Amino acid sequence: MIAIDDKDFGTPARQSATLVTLEIDGVSVTVPAGTSVMRASAEAGINVPKLCATDSLEAFGSCRVCLVEIEGRKGYPASCTTPVEPGMKVRTQTPKLADLRRGMLELYISDHPLDCLTCPTNGNCELQDVAGLVGLREVRYKKGENHLELKKDESNPYFTYDPSKCIVCNRCVRACEETQGTFALTINGRGFESRVAAGQNDAFMESECVSCGACVQACPTATLTEKTVIRIGVAEHSAITTCAYCGVGCSFKAEMKGSEVVRMVPWKDGKANHGHSCVKGRFAWGYATHKDRMLKPMIRKKITDPWQEVSWDEAIAYAASEFKRIQQTHGRDSIGGITSSRCTNEETYLVQKLVRAAFGNNNVDTCARVCHSPTGYGLKQTLGESAGTQTFDSVMDADVIMVIGANPAAAHPVFASQMKRRLRQGAKLIVVDPRSTEMVKGAHYRADYHLKLKPGTNVAVIDALAHVIVTEGLLADAFIAERCDTASFAAWKDFVSRPENSPEAMAEVTGVPAELLRGAARLYATGGNAAIYYGLGVTEHAQGSTMVMGIANLAMATGNIGRSGVGVNPLRGQNNVQGSCDMGSFPHELPGYRHISDSMVRAEFEAFWGVSLNPEPGLRIPNMFEAALDGSFRGLYVQGEDIVQSDPNTQHVADALAAMECLVVQDIFLNETAKYAHVFLPGSSFLEKDGTFTNAERRISRVRKVMPPKAGYADWEVTQLLANALGYPMNYAHPAEIMAEIAALTPSFHGVTYEKIDRLGSVQWPCNEGAPDGTPIMHIEQFVRGKGRFMITKYIATDEKVTQRFPLILTTGRILSQYNVGAQTRRTENVRWHSEDRLEIHPHDAEERGIREGDWVGIESRSGQTVLRATITENVQPGVVYTTFHFPESGANVITTDNSDWATNCPEYKVTAVQVMPVTQPSAWQAEYQRFNQQQLELARTEVSGA
Ligand code: SF4
Ligand code: SF4
Ligand code: SF4
Ligand code: FES
Repeated sequence: MIAIDDKDFGTPARQSATLVTLEIDGVSVTVPAGTSVMRASAEAGINVPKLCATDSLEAFGSCRVCLVEIEGRKGYPASCTTPVEPGMKVRTQTPKLADLRRGMLELYISDHPLDCLTCPTNGNCELQDVAGLVGLREVRYKKGENHLELKKDESNPYFTYDPSKCIVCNRCVRACEETQGTFALTINGRGFESRVAAGQNDAFMESECVSCGACVQACPTATLTEKTVIRIGVAEHSAITTCAYCGVGCSFKAEMKGSEVVRMVPWKDGKANHGHSCVKGRFAWGYATHKDRMLKPMIRKKITDPWQEVSWDEAIAYAASEFKRIQQTHGRDSIGGITSSRCTNEETYLVQKLVRAAFGNNNVDTCARVCHSPTGYGLKQTLGESAGTQTFDSVMDADVIMVIGANPAAAHPVFASQMKRRLRQGAKLIVVDPRSTEMVKGAHYRADYHLKLKPGTNVAVIDALAHVIVTEGLLADAFIAERCDTASFAAWKDFVSRPENSPEAMAEVTGVPAELLRGAARLYATGGNAAIYYGLGVTEHAQGSTMVMGIANLAMATGNIGRSGVGVNPLRGQNNVQGSCDMGSFPHELPGYRHISDSMVRAEFEAFWGVSLNPEPGLRIPNMFEAALDGSFRGLYVQGEDIVQSDPNTQHVADALAAMECLVVQDIFLNETAKYAHVFLPGSSFLEKDGTFTNAERRISRVRKVMPPKAGYADWEVTQLLANALGYPMNYAHPAEIMAEIAALTPSFHGVTYEKIDRLGSVQWPCNEGAPDGTPIMHIEQFVRGKGRFMITKYIATDEKVTQRFPLILTTGRILSQYNVGAQTRRTENVRWHSEDRLEIHPHDAEERGIREGDWVGIESRSGQTVLRATITENVQPGVVYTTFHFPESGANVITTDNSDWATNCPEYKVTAVQVMPVTQPSAWQAEYQRFNQQQLELARTEVSGA
């Protein structure tokens, strides 16, 4: 277990090669130049009282509590704003200083409620601590004008603002600006009148606030306080763990009282988040104890039967006997498994092992199939490794940031805050996106180029960018000559130089004016360190893999790879999508991306696992559905995924699952997929188990159990029970043993142990003999595959064409407050920000159809129909409509089609030709969904076995 030390040094650490030695209270201290006297003191163990300073924010110097004496200087400078100087002699404790500090505190306390005993943060309040520290015993001032009657703002569901307790230290305002980058807060009024304000109406919920909680964390008093702290009280113990939402992988200190979470505090030593978080990780964890949690195993013969609550033994025995029966009747390949990007590495590893070793086939796949499988393919082909090349911190060295098909402000918010910080420092920005997202323009930044392309034309844009770079002589010739494969480069150069790839020739296809595209290409190639960040707007296309290769080509051609500030950075969606791919979740690859057909690799696993492995790749998820419908695939074990809601063409998926003889679903909720299941095995939340997650930077971080599994078992234990029941022994006593096996069998994990992760905080793979402490940046001296390989990326228009019948293109995405299928966030107060999926439509398209704001509109594609309410906005361009997919009844995936990436079958979620018309009632699918959902909820009011 790592030591939990969150000492506040008062001001941020400075990096400098120049060291400065000074004397503080007679102690010699050496620190980097630029360090404040306050921090230097704190590093020497001398704690100067402070109120307005905290080490996550630049010093502000307003409270005057941190005064010190410096030999040879007049007056009493504030230690937080005074930088160290060589030979300086500082005194932090003198009778005069004590007097001044007491006087200052007296002023603060005279306008502060004296309700410490009943205050929710009693024992966890810096004002209280500092009053004690300076020895304040009485307040001499008579009761005069004060702020004690000011009204609380309780509008935010997660925290309160009690202005009567505010000392106007400005920490919250600075946190919102510096840490989060939203600039939602201000100090209104002057002098005595000054008070913190959130927007015009002073109500947090009506302001720009995105509820990240940075201000709450920064507040030294009980002014901004989590409602859970008010309800439960101050925590008793804590553990460091990792957020279970997105691929940023923020570290948190889970503060606990018994086995109840009091609050989640972003861990300041977290290497991915440096003490910051978003609304989901910090506040939206209430789902873990929601009343909808399913805590008992259940079985049923048919999906129209009521569920029967049974013991774990019975449920596992039934699932195992059904899987065996199906295999005996329909053959070894008639069953399979789906691993979860929400579960830990260890759990994912066990599921694929169960499929390969106990089922005896390779029918295992993962939800990465439907998000970043093209990243795996495209980066492997070009660079030699299926993962992003950088750390998040690398963005702070980028001079040009190109964001393609991603909206980190919504989907990777903590990284977006870091990116925005770099943009405020002056980095240039290119956004390639059909929509005007928050990344195009925000507080104190604006994209230098927004290439507002037509959905589905990414490859045409990347080829045109490459065309400009090649034909205008902007190539990094020396880098290419030294690092890249000459023949593939020559072929690529010849290809992109062709006139048909010029911005002018492509303008009609992409909708991007040629001059704009030329400007963006020049900036990317010549603007200094240029980094590309991309998301599902790149991968979820018919040419997803082609586009990923196009991005890698561009980075290689301009030498933007292999150092800090550059690189190719896929922004992975789910918390452990990188890990689930690393762990061998694809049907053709064993852990570490090694092909199942490689007999040497198989031999290693066979020796370890004591079985012989099938050399043939198994079925991918879409193939499983096809096989289910043709009757050759009859059993499926799904851990922690909701394929009915998240996969395209919902009706097709539902039909496939309805054709199964044994669908085993392991989840914390009765999700949409579970409504088609025959065995339900209760899952465990991230708070209930040990393990690791791997984030988008390849960073492996610990997940730590802070409460016992509510249903009795962690997910990895359930897989183990199933394996044993199938006759394949698994006997792990702890996930650390599973990691030891992963490390032994996976070259890029050879050096990974729990002990090392605990010691270093986290570790980025490859972590092995060559890189014992991990690899923050890849491809530094040479590409993993040796020479970087350029790939030809010919633009081929998608088959999903607009026609008179389907004249609009629907594209999909996410919103900050909700997460993916919404199973977790819909069960939290986050619904206050987004309680339904809506269809965004351009005013021109809306007017043409007689659609007004908020109208119900029918959206029809070649796959199906659904009904949503309309939001009219110029964020989408004419001809394009947009929706999110967080609510099952929205049926966003009823509309999306079976089209997919040519290389990986990743669905083409981002391009669906649709027609949109005003309607007055739900679609036929929605009506049927309501009926089926109601029926399944009734059937889940279980009967206890034998009762
Ligand atoms: S919660 Fe975050 S966005 Fe909202 S005011 Fe506080 S710091 Fe700003
Ligand atoms: S709300 Fe808290 S952080 Fe903000 S000014 Fe008041 S006391 Fe300081
Ligand atoms: S940015 Fe992602 S990992 Fe971090 S707190 Fe938010 S959801 Fe969790
Ligand atoms: S802590 Fe230095 S002036 Fe407030």
